[in-house]
Amino acid sequence: MSAKYMVVSLLLALTIYPAVKLSLGAALRDRTARHVLCQENLEYPHESHCCLNCPAGQFVKEACTKPLTRGTCAACPYDTYTEHDNGLMQCLQCTKCRTDEEVTRQCSNTQNSQCQCKSGSFCSPDQACEFCKKCSRCKPDEETVKNCTSTSNTVCKKKIATSATVLVTVGVIIPVIVAVGVVLLIYLKKKLSFSNFTVVSCKSSEVVKVNMDDKNNTTLEEEERQSAGPLEPQQEREPFLKESPPVHSQRRRLIPLNGQESLKKSFDLFEELDINYHNRFFRRIGLKDNEIQGADNQSPADKMYELLRLWMEKEGSKADINDLLEVLFSLDQKLSAETIIHKAITNCDFVYEDVKTDCVAADIVTHHGINEKPC
Ligand SMILES: *[C@@H]1O[C@H](CO)[C@@H](O)[C@H](O)[C@H]1NC(C)=O
Repeated sequence: MSAKYMVVSLLLALTIYPAVKLSLGAALRDRTARHVLCQENLEYPHESHCCLNCPAGQFVKEACTKPLTRGTCAACPYDTYTEHDNGLMQCLQCTKCRTDEEVTRQCSNTQNSQCQCKSGSFCSPDQACEFCKKCSRCKPDEETVKNCTSTSNTVCKKKIATSATVLVTVGVIIPVIVAVGVVLLIYLKKKLSFSNFTVVSCKSSEVVKVNMDDKNNTTLEEEERQSAGPLEPQQEREPFLKESPPVHSQRRRLIPLNGQESLKKSFDLFEELDINYHNRFFRRIGLKDNEIQGADNQSPADKMYELLRLWMEKEGSKADINDLLEVLFSLDQKLSAETIIHKAITNCDFVYEDVKTDCVAADIVTHHGINEKPC
């Protein structure tokens, strides 16, 4: 519309130009004319004096001969208009709505016509509008936040919880959690018979473990390996060295204290990851490119959460924070991984697998300091 207006103004300027040049010539002839200062919006200059403007809906047919009088005004012809008091020699041409627009106001001699995109299409006012664009439709897994208007596109948002996911939660996840709980309980009972005195203090992420079992000099890790039986490869059963740093394959595993809920809570922690690694991370955890791009319109933090939620839906009960951490380690993002582990433990959402059993098993849990949280 603004382009059209410019064309109209240009045409108008071209038609007015000779008149302007004429009066300018007259002004130059008469030195006093150069000093003619007419009141804006009320008067217009003519030769060496000012004339009063014609009212809206009219134009100046003949300029005044006596200063500060109104010359001859005439009504705007059909399909032209002037919206304000003016000193125009011609009225302005009414805007014609395009075929993809509809008229929302007919042109009168005091108001230009108004057009808007037809229903189902839009043009944003901050962009040049040569034609109306089709409104987007929200996908089945999205909901409409804002309906399309003639000046703005539809706004969609991914649905948070569909009835399907609720069904999955009730029908699948809860039984899984119960099953895991039962297995854990059985495992715990077994474990209790192994270690008779294990004092554990869950001091933030740092776990101080004092093994008072002096019958044999084995560590808990070793016991675990022994109890795990013949499934473990031979080499891994070599005596455990207390001082040796953890090797890749021996990375301590985290287990959630509150099942999938803990996992979900940990998603925000992954914001930690350097943004340059986000897309590589998403691909390595098995998301498809179109799934990753589908979340591109969100902030990095929201995208991370959204895509991890998608990953969790795809993995189902197999979803495991250890797999996510393993990917971070494989991307050489050790620091991020460790920060995430630290926070996950501090938040008491996760514990190390080798500690969990003891935290519960040993009834003696000591806390040092004020900020500690029991697991
Ligand atoms: C969008 O329009 C439909 C029908 O015109 C209406 O039912 C719905 O509530 C509107 N949605 C919003 C977000 O305004």
